[in-house]
Amino acid sequence: MGRAAGKIALVTGASSGIGRATSIMLAREGAKVILTDVRDPEGRAVADEIITAGGEAIFIHHDVASEADWTNALDAANRRFGGLDVLVNNAGVLFNASIEQTTLERWRWLMSVNCDGVFLGTRAAIVAMKGRGGSIINISSIAGLVGFERLSAYGASKGAVRAFTKAAAIEYAKARIRINSVHPGGIWTPMLEDVLGERGSTSADAAAAAMHPIGHAGEPDDIAHAVLYLASDESRFVTGAELVVDGGYTAQ
Ligand SMILES: NC(=O)c1ccc[n+]([C@@H]2O[C@H](COP(=O)([O-])OP(=O)(O)OC[C@H]3O[C@@H](n4cnc5c(N)ncnc54)[C@H](O)[C@@H]3O)[C@@H](O)[C@H]2O)c1
Repeated sequence: MGRAAGKIALVTGASSGIGRATSIMLAREGAKVILTDVRDPEGRAVADEIITAGGEAIFIHHDVASEADWTNALDAANRRFGGLDVLVNNAGVLFNASIEQTTLERWRWLMSVNCDGVFLGTRAAIVAMKGRGGSIINISSIAGLVGFERLSAYGASKGAVRAFTKAAAIEYAKARIRINSVHPGGIWTPMLEDVLGERGSTSADAAAAAMHPIGHAGEPDDIAHAVLYLASDESRFVTGAELVVDGGYTAQ
């Protein structure tokens, strides 16, 4: 208990999957959590779950691709908790299509969420963390490290997040703002089910098992634990790193 005690943390895409698990874990470890997402009822339910368990949380409607929404989210964090120590840029979208099937409109939509969102969030958090330091955690993917058929737009966006994270880490190291990326393998969330099929179905479970040397896909808590480490002072000497949590996928 208490590994994130006293920290004020904002988690984007907190209504589902990895963002939901991360928000719950950070709150359980003592952080005050601002949960944000475009899916309000689900996000409010996660915030309520945290409060019922004795934690501190608020939910804010927030499209990460909107500059104005970032201003609102940071203002709300400041008003309610008085600053920001941790930002988890987790919100992300994926579509499965060949390059020939990918329209410019779809490409730009994905980039607006996965890349503009991370840029706008990192910039806003740096302003909020100046003078006090902090930790920014960008959720990339193994698709930002190696290629996947039919995921070219997604992979391009996640590779951009990886490179952006390293540049930002160097630029703000002296300001004591640590910036790292996390690279999940297949994690059982609605996003993975979009790619592999419904969890529990023979074909999806077999694909997840075949994909990861460890023999199965991961759980959202496997990523939440990595984020907790990067959010906490245990990682005080870690910046510009890419933390791979993939059941051995990229070790092959
Ligand atoms: N699940 C995996 O296997 C996997 C693997 C590697 C990386 N990731 C990354 O992890 C992150 C979380 O994914 P997940 O698997 O939990 O997916 P998910 O679909 O369960 O959750 C994503 C959340 O982001 C929110 N979101 C989407 N667009 C948004 C926007 N414009 N503004 C704010 N919120 C928005 C959604 O409403 C949803 O609640 C993503 O960045 C994803 O790319 C996931």
